[in-house]
Amino acid sequence: MDKTKILFVCLGNICRSPSAEAVMKSILEQQGLSDQYEIDSAGITAYHAGEPADQRMQRHAVNRGITLSSISRPVKSPDDFRHFDYIIGMDDQNMDDLLLRCPDETNAAKIHKMTNFCKQHTHDSVPDPYYGGAAGFELVLDLLEDACEGLLNHIQRNEQQKH
Ligand code: 4NP
Repeated sequence: MDKTKILFVCLGNICRSPSAEAVMKSILEQQGLSDQYEIDSAGITAYHAGEPADQRMQRHAVNRGITLSSISRPVKSPDDFRHFDYIIGMDDQNMDDLLLRCPDETNAAKIHKMTNFCKQHTHDSVPDPYYGGAAGFELVLDLLEDACEGLLNHIQRNEQQKH
């Protein structure tokens, strides 16, 4: 069976989307589903390309048992839009930027906002924690843990309907 491919996207690919990637990989591992999914992350910008995740983000994630191992890279158009099945932005600006970069209408249907999959939280975006304090990094992880569970349930329901 083909793997389901998910790309998480934020502005710099050093805080939110690397965390989303790691949270989703951790959930898949716990559920024994890792071999059925390909998970990656990317940034709208290339400002931090080649860098590991932000040290503060890494510390907050490690406190929850989550290791951030990805290296920042920018979104590649058209390749990423063709390759991935789900492309998940963190806020409205990410959504606009993804739609601008998307090569065609068919692939635009793959683009979703992360917080639309939250079950517990009512935030309408995952706020950029870069210029804020510790509470911002904790909020990112709270929202991502909630949304990753919801996204996985959504995908599993979608896959069931196909068969
Ligand atoms: P991210 O956070 O988009 O969650 O990776 C940011 C990282 C860097 C910058 C902004 C947001 N920056 O302006 O450099």
